[in-house]
Amino acid sequence: MTETKTALVTGANKGIGYEIAAGLGALGWSVGVGARDDGRREEAVAKLRAAGADAFGVPLDVTDDASVTAAAGLLAERGLDVLVNNAAITGGMPQEPTKVDPATVRTVVETNVLGVIRVTNAMLPLLRRSPSPRIVNMSSTVGSLTRQTTPGAQTGPISAAYSTSKTFLNALTVQYAKELADTNILINAGCPGFCATDLNGFRGVRTPEQGAAIAVRLATLPDGGPTGTFSDDDGPVPW
Ligand SMILES: NC(=O)c1ccc[n+]([C@@H]2O[C@H](COP(=O)([O-])OP(=O)(O)OC[C@H]3O[C@@H](n4cnc5c(N)ncnc54)[C@H](OP(=O)(O)O)[C@@H]3O)[C@@H](O)[C@H]2O)c1
Repeated sequence: MTETKTALVTGANKGIGYEIAAGLGALGWSVGVGARDDGRREEAVAKLRAAGADAFGVPLDVTDDASVTAAAGLLAERGLDVLVNNAAITGGMPQEPTKVDPATVRTVVETNVLGVIRVTNAMLPLLRRSPSPRIVNMSSTVGSLTRQTTPGAQTGPISAAYSTSKTFLNALTVQYAKELADTNILINAGCPGFCATDLNGFRGVRTPEQGAAIAVRLATLPDGGPTGTFSDDDGPVPW
């Protein structure tokens, strides 16, 4: 008999995060729907439950220390096996480096990078008690410096905040993996591909469900699996 695993997905009320919660729920896992808006969170939990998932709401604003501490407190009794850092914002386009308001960059980094550190560090004491802890950071190939400097590669719009925040997140993933190398915690970054969600005005060509697949794969890596990697459905993505 296997014990039920518990996961927390940040920004799970819609888009790819919702589908990650649905995907982990379909595995029989208990899934915490991390979301900052009460109405949107409860609606998502109800929808997931109606689909048969063991979902529960976790009030969570990744930019707010008190909110993140409270979320860790809420999860303390259940325990936590998997954290998916999915919540992110673009900060709005255009954001060319020569014209961008530094406040935009600060806001995006606060959510997409510092939010990940804040949530990860708050959840680590719980994850350390799991037999097979996993951390998944939802990144993007637009954060790949190799892709950004490869002529003709798909790189998204020039962006001083969003793309760079994902480069920062990738670098952070590597540093966490190095520090946690002697533990059983696997931490990896994944890109969902260009999916139709609010983030891009639904211009993406993949479904959020397709985008969730990489997160489910990284959340379910076997013991001794890779850590400190960056991949999408096609395999490793260059840094
Ligand atoms: N869509 C794509 O093509 C694509 C491509 C590459 C990577 N990604 C990455 O995939 C992940 C999911 O993106 P998505 O396309 O599903 O975006 P989305 O539909 O805009 O959803 C973003 C989620 O993050 C939440 N969020 C934002 N700020 C938050 C905060 N401070 N605290 C808690 N939650 C917050 C949003 O909540 P609210 O509803 O309250 O705003 C929402 O639930 C992101 O990391 C994104 O960078 C997406």
